[in-house]
Amino acid sequence: MIYQGKAFKVLALESGIAELRFDLEGESVNKFNRLAIEDLDAAVQAIKADSSIKGVVLTSGKEGIFVVGADIMEFTSTFRQEEGELMEMVMGVNRVFTSFEDLDMPTVAAINGSALGGGFEICLCADYRVLSNQGGVGLPEVKLGIYPGWGGTVRLPRLIGADNAVEWIAAGREQKPEAALKVGAVDAVVAPEKLLESGVAIIKRALAGELDFNARKEEKRSPLKLPMLESLMVFETTMAVVKQQAGPHMPAPVASVKAIKKHAELTRDEALKVEAEGFIKLAKSPESDVLVGLFLNDQMLKKKIKTITKKAGKVEKAAVLGAGIMGGGIAYQSAYKGTPILMKDIAQDGLNLGLNEASKLLSKRVARGRMDPLKMGEVLNHIVPTLSYSEFGDVDVVVEAVVENVKVKKAVLAEAEDQVSEEAVLASNTSTISITELAKDLKRPEKFCGMHFFNPVHAMPLVEVIRGEKTSEETVATVVQYAKKMGKVPIVVNDCPGFLVNRVLFPYFGGFASLVKDGADFQQVDKVMEKFGWPMGPAYLLDVVGIDTGCHAEQVMADGFPDRMSRDWKSAIDVMFENGRYGQKTNVGFYKYEQDKKGKPKKVADEASYELLAEVSGERREFETQEIIDRMMIPLCMETVRTLEDGIVDTAAEADLALLNGIGFPIFRGGALKYIDSIGLDKFVELADQYAHISPLYQPTEKLREMAREGKTFYGA
Ligand SMILES: NC(=O)c1ccc[n+]([C@@H]2O[C@H](COP(=O)([O-])OP(=O)(O)OC[C@H]3O[C@@H](n4cnc5c(N)ncnc54)[C@H](O)[C@@H]3O)[C@@H](O)[C@H]2O)c1
Repeated sequence: MIYQGKAFKVLALESGIAELRFDLEGESVNKFNRLAIEDLDAAVQAIKADSSIKGVVLTSGKEGIFVVGADIMEFTSTFRQEEGELMEMVMGVNRVFTSFEDLDMPTVAAINGSALGGGFEICLCADYRVLSNQGGVGLPEVKLGIYPGWGGTVRLPRLIGADNAVEWIAAGREQKPEAALKVGAVDAVVAPEKLLESGVAIIKRALAGELDFNARKEEKRSPLKLPMLESLMVFETTMAVVKQQAGPHMPAPVASVKAIKKHAELTRDEALKVEAEGFIKLAKSPESDVLVGLFLNDQMLKKKIKTITKKAGKVEKAAVLGAGIMGGGIAYQSAYKGTPILMKDIAQDGLNLGLNEASKLLSKRVARGRMDPLKMGEVLNHIVPTLSYSEFGDVDVVVEAVVENVKVKKAVLAEAEDQVSEEAVLASNTSTISITELAKDLKRPEKFCGMHFFNPVHAMPLVEVIRGEKTSEETVATVVQYAKKMGKVPIVVNDCPGFLVNRVLFPYFGGFASLVKDGADFQQVDKVMEKFGWPMGPAYLLDVVGIDTGCHAEQVMADGFPDRMSRDWKSAIDVMFENGRYGQKTNVGFYKYEQDKKGKPKKVADEASYELLAEVSGERREFETQEIIDRMMIPLCMETVRTLEDGIVDTAAEADLALLNGIGFPIFRGGALKYIDSIGLDKFVELADQYAHISPLYQPTEKLREMAREGKTFYGA
C-alpha cells in the first residue's frame, strides 16, 4: 500500500504501475465530498513522491458504480457561501484535478459503472479512458440548474469536439458505452472483468512509446485545435436549438454553450477560470436553488418509499375493474411494466375500448422504434380481458376504476371482496369519494385504500395512495409497491375531499372563476399562466379535464370545505356546464376544438364563449400580469399550506412533488411551498392579505402568520 486514506488508496500493481482506487469509506457509492477531494490531493502527492511509480490506473472500489458525482447535500450548503469563497472552493478542486492530470506519467481511468458529473470530470483528467460495457458516462449538471464546474466544459470539447460536447453538456444525459466510444470520449469499451487489465495494457503501451500520452495531456492544456475551432460555427447553430429546448426558465444549458465558446481559444488554466466564473453565477441562481432542492426532495421520497415498502405484500398479479379511460390506462401501464393484469368490465364494448387503447399506445412505441413487436405481443398477452370474476382467486391487488358513483362503487367493491383471497388488497381510483366512506360496507376495510391515478395514466407520474381511517400500513405498503412497480411516483396522503392534488387544484380554479367574474378575459388568464410555466392555462385545463367532471368535483369540494370553497354566485364554469359545453369531449368548452393534421384536438378561440360569459362576467378589462398570477396562485398555495397543517400530507417535499408530478406545476418553481419560500413568507402573507377580501381562499392561516413572524420557511433554510 503506497497510500491509504478514507476515500482514496494507492496500491502497487505490477512493474511500477499503481492503482489509484476511489472507495469512499462508509458509503455504498462514491461521491466527491470535501473529504474525498482532500484525500485525492494527498493520494496524488503520494504518487508524485514515489519515484518507482511510472503510470496510474484510476479505479473504483464500488461494484458497478464508478462515481455518482459531487455530494449534493454538501454542495447545497457550499452554494450559499459568498461568491469569493465559492470561487476558492471551485478553483481548489480544479487544482487537485489538474495535479492528477499533470502527473508526469501516463494515466488511465478504468470506469466500471456510471461516471457522472464530477465523477466523469476526474476521468477527463486522465490521459486515456476505458469503459465497462455495463457503464456509462455523462455530465448531468444542467439538470441541477448548473453546468460542469470542475473542468467538464473545458476538457470535453478539447477531447470530442465542441459540437459533441455542447450536445452532451446541454442535454445532460448519461451516454451509453457505444456512444461514448464513437465520439472518442472513451478509448475502449471492454467487459467489466477485463477493465483493470486493459487499463494496465494501455499504460504499458504508453510507457513503451507506442502511445503518446504527453500529446494527450498537451491537447487538453491548449486552446481548441483548428478543426475543432472551425466547428465553433456550431455555437451559432446550436445556441438557438439549445435555447428552444431549454425554454425561457432554464438558463444553465445556454450558459454552458456560452462558456465553451468564451474559453475555446484559451489555455486550460485560463479556461478553467472562465468556466468557474460562469458556474458560480449559476450556482447562485434561483433556478439552481429550486432544482437542487427538487433533487433532494426526490432522494427523500425514494428513501421513504423504500422504508414503507418493507411491509408490502407480494404484487405479482393485479386486476382492474372497469375498462374505461382510466381502467384501460391502468391495465396498459401494469402490463407494460411487468405485472400481469385482469381487466374486468360489465360490457364487451368496454373491454374492446380498453384493449384498443392499450394496443394504440404500444403500436406508437413500436413505430418510434422504442419497442420490438415481440415485446408488444407479450405486453398485450399480459392484459386479460374478462366479464367474470372466475380468475380473481389469486390476484394480489385489485384497482377499482368504474364510474364515479358511490353506490356503484360500493357494490362493485363488495362483490370483488367476495371473490379475492383474504390477503388481497383492494384500491379505488375514485377522484372525489371518501375512502373511509367507501370502506364502510367492506368486510376487510383494513385491506382497502385509495389509488388515485391521473389522466392519461401512462403519461402522468403521480399516484396518490390514500389512507382511509381503517386502512392498515401493510395495505398502504402493498399499493405503494404496486405503484412503484408501475414506474409511478407514489405519495401517501390521508383521506379528505379532493385528497391532496384536487383539493389544491380547485381553489386555483376558484381564483380563475373570480377573475372572470371581475372582467378578466379567460384567454389572457391562460396566456399569463402558461408564460408563468404551466403546461396549459386554467380554462384550457378545465376543457381537457371535462367541464362536467370539473363541476361535479367542484361541488364535492364545496360540500367538504363550505367555509371557503362554496360560493353564492354563478361562475364561468357553471355557464359552460349549463350550455353543454363540456370541453374537448364535446369539441367545445371555453374553446372550440378542431382536428389537426394528426387527428389531435386543436383549440381555437370561440366568440360564442364570450357571448355566453357576458351573463356572469363584469365589464371586460385588461389585468396586470402580476395580479393574474397572484390571484391564481395564492389560493392554490394557501390550500397546499392547509393540507400540510391538517396532516393530509406528511412533508412539504411530498406536497410539492405531488403537484409537480400530478398537475404539471412549473418544475423550475419547485412546487407551491417552495414558491412561497422563494417569495418569502412575510411577503406572501402580506400579498395574500391584500386579496383576502375576494374570498377566504386567500386568507393566510394563523400558523402561516406565525411562521412568517418567526422568519421560518417550509424548507427550513
Ligand atoms: N377520467 C379521468 O380523468 C379520471 C382521473 C382520475 C380518476 N378518475 C376516476 O376513475 C374512475 C373511472 O373513470 P373513467 O374516466 O375511466 O370512466 P369511464 O366511464 O371511461 O369508464 C368506466 C368503466 O367502468 C365500467 N363499469 C361500470 N360499472 C361496472 C361494474 N359494475 N363492473 C365493472 N365495470 C364497470 C364501464 O363499462 C366503463 O367501461 C372514476 O372513479 C373516476 O372518477 C378519472
